[in-house]
Amino acid sequence: MPLSVGFIGAGNMGRSHMRCAQTLGLNLAAVTDILPAAAEQASRQFGIRRTYTDYRAMLKAGKDLDAVIIATPNKFHAEHAIGCLKAGKHVFLEKPMTTSTRDADKILAAHKASGKLLQMGMVNRFTAAVQTTRRFIAEGCCGKIYSGQAFWYRRRGIPGFGGWFTTKEFSGGGGLIDLGVHMLDVALYLMDFPKPVAVSGMTYNVWKSLDTYTYTDMWGQPTPGGKKDVDDYALGLIRFADGQTLQLNISWALNLGDLALERGVRLMGDKGGVALTGMEETRIFGEQAGHLVDTIPQFAKNDPNLDEIRHFVECVQEGRPPMPTAEQGRTVQLLLEALYRSSQEGREIRLR
Ligand SMILES: NC(=O)c1ccc[n+]([C@@H]2O[C@H](COP(=O)([O-])OP(=O)(O)OC[C@H]3O[C@@H](n4cnc5c(N)ncnc54)[C@H](O)[C@@H]3O)[C@@H](O)[C@H]2O)c1
Repeated sequence: MPLSVGFIGAGNMGRSHMRCAQTLGLNLAAVTDILPAAAEQASRQFGIRRTYTDYRAMLKAGKDLDAVIIATPNKFHAEHAIGCLKAGKHVFLEKPMTTSTRDADKILAAHKASGKLLQMGMVNRFTAAVQTTRRFIAEGCCGKIYSGQAFWYRRRGIPGFGGWFTTKEFSGGGGLIDLGVHMLDVALYLMDFPKPVAVSGMTYNVWKSLDTYTYTDMWGQPTPGGKKDVDDYALGLIRFADGQTLQLNISWALNLGDLALERGVRLMGDKGGVALTGMEETRIFGEQAGHLVDTIPQFAKNDPNLDEIRHFVECVQEGRPPMPTAEQGRTVQLLLEALYRSSQEGREIRLR
């Protein structure tokens, strides 16, 4: 029997997940969107029989649902995830986990009480480049990793300018929470989630109005006259218990040329290093036979969006824990919150 799935949020990411679920042959049973037109459009496009404007109604009528895929604005992640877990559904929750560590703890508590599976939507982990890099690191190519850099530079890439993405009340933050969450997750995954002890960060909100923002394209639609009270540039330094460090640079918008097209992770070890570029290519820097050697692994490209949903389905069916785990989502949330706090208070934040 294919898994029966419900969706909360039928926007850009929700529809992307619906496409993947359809490709995987799942039963797309129900969809909720606060905008009736969005739910109905998804219903027509993907042949979803039941539509709702309130997720509680969907859950009440949803005895048949095995799992729910949540892709709503960040502010609602906690409420939606907790509601679904309490209703006994497995949950795929888009990133970021939520907008505060306090809410992340509430999600974790509901997850533990439910005994249901909870997977965070950290799609970059599922790229063939990240998986290949992870295998090389596991085989010891780096030796002991002592420091790393994670970055995502966009020259112009503020999503839905003026809408929920750029309104702190709904998003919890800007580029740092939107893109930083991905790069932190990938870097920590490759570093094997060391224990963070201190965080220093600084954020900037440079483009405050759509009127002064020159751009060529945008994820989602702009809202003229809308709000932008979140960061478009952020930098940070994270220190870990055993002396490792991670530098972070994240921009939604930045006045830099070629650099602005780059995202990646670089890790430095005492035996070698790795450099992931664009989540598409990875290089291993090492030594062999008395020479410095660069290795460029070859691998088939994959569709990470499809593979993360496939992974979710397999974990549900086989009863095994997914990646990333909810605990890892919580660690990333803690770091994001500490980076914002450090910027606001102008000091390093010690983590207990
Ligand atoms: N993994 C990725 O690479 C990636 C990329 C983009 C967005 N996202 C995440 O996906 C989520 C959604 O982003 P998006 O780009 O699809 O946004 P979007 O604005 O396109 O879609 C959000 C949808 O949720 C609906 N909605 C709002 N409040 C609701 C509520 N209370 N109940 C039900 N529906 C509600 C909206 O009407 C809208 O249709 C966000 O958390 C975002 O961070 C992840």
